Amino acid sequence: MKFIIKSRKVFILLSICLTGLIFTITCKKSADIQIVDLRCEYRKEPVGIDDKQPRFNWVMQSDERNQVQSAYRILVASNAGSLSKEEGDMWNSGKIISERSIQVEYSGKELESNTTYYWKVRIWDKADRPSPWSTPSSWSMGLLDKSNWQAKWIGIASDEAETTRPVDTILTSRGTPPGTPSPMVRKTFLIDSDAKSAMVYVSALGLYELHINGEKVGDHVLAPEWTDYTKRVQYQAYDVTDMLKPGENTIGAILGDGWYIGTFGQWGDDARRGKNYGSLDRKFLFQLAIQTENGESITVVSNGSWKEFADGPIRFADMFLGETIDARRNIPGWDNTGFDDSEWKAVHVFPDPGIELVAQMHEPIRVIDTLRPVTVIEPDTGVYIIDMGQNIAGWCRLVANEPEGTKIMLRHGERLTEEGGLYTQNLRRAKQEDIFITSGETNDVFEPRFTFHGFQFVEITGLSKKPDLSMLSGIAISSDPEQTGHFECSNPELNQLWNNILWTQRDNQHGIPTDCPQRDERMGWMGDALVFAQTAIYNMNMAPFYTKWIRDIRDAQTEEGEFADFAPHPNWDRPHLNAPGWADAGLVVPYRVYQNYDDLRVLERQYQSAKKFIDFVHKSNPDLVWRNHAGNQYGDWLNGDLIESDSYPGEGATMPKDVFATAYFAYSTNILAEMANLLGIGSDAEEYSALADSIRQVFNDNFVSGNGEITGDTQAGYVIALNFKLLPDSLKPLAVNHMLRRISDYDGRISTGFHSTVLLMKELTDWGYTPLAYDLLESHELPSWLYPVDQGATTIWERWDGWVKGRGFQDIGMNSFNHYSFGSVAEWMYRTILGINRDDNHPGYKKFIIKPEPGGSLTWAKGEYHSIHGLIRTEWRSENDRFILNITVPVNTHAIVYVPSDFPESITEGGEEAVNSPGVQQVGMSKNQGIFEIGSGTYQFESKYSIHPKK
Ligand code: BGC
Repeated sequence: MKFIIKSRKVFILLSICLTGLIFTITCKKSADIQIVDLRCEYRKEPVGIDDKQPRFNWVMQSDERNQVQSAYRILVASNAGSLSKEEGDMWNSGKIISERSIQVEYSGKELESNTTYYWKVRIWDKADRPSPWSTPSSWSMGLLDKSNWQAKWIGIASDEAETTRPVDTILTSRGTPPGTPSPMVRKTFLIDSDAKSAMVYVSALGLYELHINGEKVGDHVLAPEWTDYTKRVQYQAYDVTDMLKPGENTIGAILGDGWYIGTFGQWGDDARRGKNYGSLDRKFLFQLAIQTENGESITVVSNGSWKEFADGPIRFADMFLGETIDARRNIPGWDNTGFDDSEWKAVHVFPDPGIELVAQMHEPIRVIDTLRPVTVIEPDTGVYIIDMGQNIAGWCRLVANEPEGTKIMLRHGERLTEEGGLYTQNLRRAKQEDIFITSGETNDVFEPRFTFHGFQFVEITGLSKKPDLSMLSGIAISSDPEQTGHFECSNPELNQLWNNILWTQRDNQHGIPTDCPQRDERMGWMGDALVFAQTAIYNMNMAPFYTKWIRDIRDAQTEEGEFADFAPHPNWDRPHLNAPGWADAGLVVPYRVYQNYDDLRVLERQYQSAKKFIDFVHKSNPDLVWRNHAGNQYGDWLNGDLIESDSYPGEGATMPKDVFATAYFAYSTNILAEMANLLGIGSDAEEYSALADSIRQVFNDNFVSGNGEITGDTQAGYVIALNFKLLPDSLKPLAVNHMLRRISDYDGRISTGFHSTVLLMKELTDWGYTPLAYDLLESHELPSWLYPVDQGATTIWERWDGWVKGRGFQDIGMNSFNHYSFGSVAEWMYRTILGINRDDNHPGYKKFIIKPEPGGSLTWAKGEYHSIHGLIRTEWRSENDRFILNITVPVNTHAIVYVPSDFPESITEGGEEAVNSPGVQQVGMSKNQGIFEIGSGTYQFESKYSIHPKK
């Protein structure tokens, strides 16, 4: 008995010790952290990239507050099996003591073309406890060397296409010189077993749509997208393993004109067809690498053995003019086995165009939404106008049931005229007309492939009866980076505004950021992108897209160093260069990518170009006032002076050109100095920092008077001088007063243009005038953001007064309803309403600032930003003079939080005094806010605070 008791005691004791031991071991052994969202070059499991030293990012999740990574270990393997056995045959980083969880460069064995790699990561937390391994991820390399390409450029020579094209009256009824039908190419091949892996690499000069065994490959549209085709073209990689089958397989492709041949730009009149890049030949390049289950390696390439057909159903397709599809010419089965292609001819094999082939590493243009029509009206007999409810970039899909040969015309526009017809005058030479000719079969499906339109309304003629709305859908297309931001608040009009901004961004991303998607322009205007970049980055994961476009900017730079006003720049005898505020995007946009994503590589690659540009402006303007080689000097574009209204001052808003240009010269030179500093080029950093100082001095000497007045006395001038940090401290408050005076001269309205509008909001907030900024944001008076919302806008207008009650439309020469520049105010909404701000001493949101400033009519707001380090979320509401602020901070980051309060000493977090709350450290206090530093986790701060909401 005694023994038993003794043993029991020992047993219990042992058990306690053992449990304790196990507990201790477990605690030491594994951290309570999950690793999620593994990315290679910003994307999840990208296929066919060509960066030979790709970078990795991962995000960590933990319920524990203030959790930080103290070390990591990465394994990269050439097959999934090795990785699961923890063998990193390509790279085993070992345990690296570092908090770095983004932009970690691959440093293993040389990566090979057309190969998939597998990787995983584990981390050690702040107590040096290891996490479990992440779920494995992968990426694959594309064709890294020109010698990897065995394929030949094939297609139909334009002279052959011209002579074989039948005369087609339907084409000429458009009143434009017809192009030739979209050629189709095909090839069959045999494999004797299932494919173990099959990767296809495809490109075109023009556009392509690729099919295998009767199915479209991938979800890209308008591939290979737009680059400077005289220098480079992108290829796309698709994993087609599951599309192949033992036996005969068929490849088919339809080729279009796109940006390579078709019209684009304001100067893209019909006569320019084929002249932008000097060719009317649509060319196609294809290489398929197959490993069969039988162990065979087979490569199928485009070459002279392919066949072509030049007279298919797409009779004509042009980006601006539209597309004509004749369903009577449909060729069933052309892209599948068993098709008799004896009528098809051998393709033409072109010589190598001698340009660089680069992998597409950003998200493709794809269909992002399918809209159902909202209403249909019949303004005239047989003329139907359908409202899609949203201004989009894309096209319509129509299912028709009409007798054979019926010609149905779809015209696209953004607004209706006051008489209720389709408003198309603002499209200028972009016709945006699709013509569908029916086959007479039941349910003829029409959907364009090689054009797109900017529209909310579509006018249909040629139908025998009123269309059934279920037969029509609006197909929205866009380059499709993941959405990273969201905004919502108690004022539904601001929610509509934010939504309009998001749509305007979607509508203006088609391989490059464009000014507008509808009229004959649609160019990569750099000034627009410069002002919108930060908003774009809040909204979406823009790094890969901008990285691609920044290369386009380099491609468009002149030998001498001028940056273009838009990129790509098709070199039309080289006008449109070096405009201040446009060319500067060559520095500002890469710098924004660095600030938001801690991406030094983008700066490294841009540095020499940026330096060449600043040196050019400097050499051209030795007195440091930028007057020479300032191109078209657009200035603070579309400012208040352009507003046509009797109740608005007709002048006083335009910042003088040399003031605007010199301000940008100083700003960009300063960015260059900062780039040099970051890249460790000390001598350049010093030189350009001194140059920036000198330009600032010259700016003050020439344009700033002793009382802080700036030449031109414009709102924009003060805002830009303050924001670009051009003024000495003593003059700043004086300049702020001038800025306020100039706002009151306009009866409390804005008079700013593209470049200065969001900066005005930022300066008001920085100088303590957030209530005035809210007044501007919530104003319904012209000019304001909500005026268009009141007129039913679903996107941001190019002009404050695109359409005005009683006056009607602005000048048809320039009146887009889908231009994002004024939408840059979303940056202020994220920063000030949600309070989510970068801390530029800690790029990539390693540390950031949460500083919501409630105001205006708002009683609550909530939103989020998926930073490269993980999800940042804020939500605040006011309840009976209590202010409640919920915050989420990602693992491995820190935030400084400003909690507004009438009694900062009584702020609580999680129900207890904030100063005593775990993980919360008070770092400051002023009479109306408490300032705290917090690590990762979720927090709820509460304070006594009256936000005085307006009724
Ligand atoms: C475009 C703008 C662009 C500008 C240059 C316009 O036609 O639509 O957005 O920035 O030209 O001033």
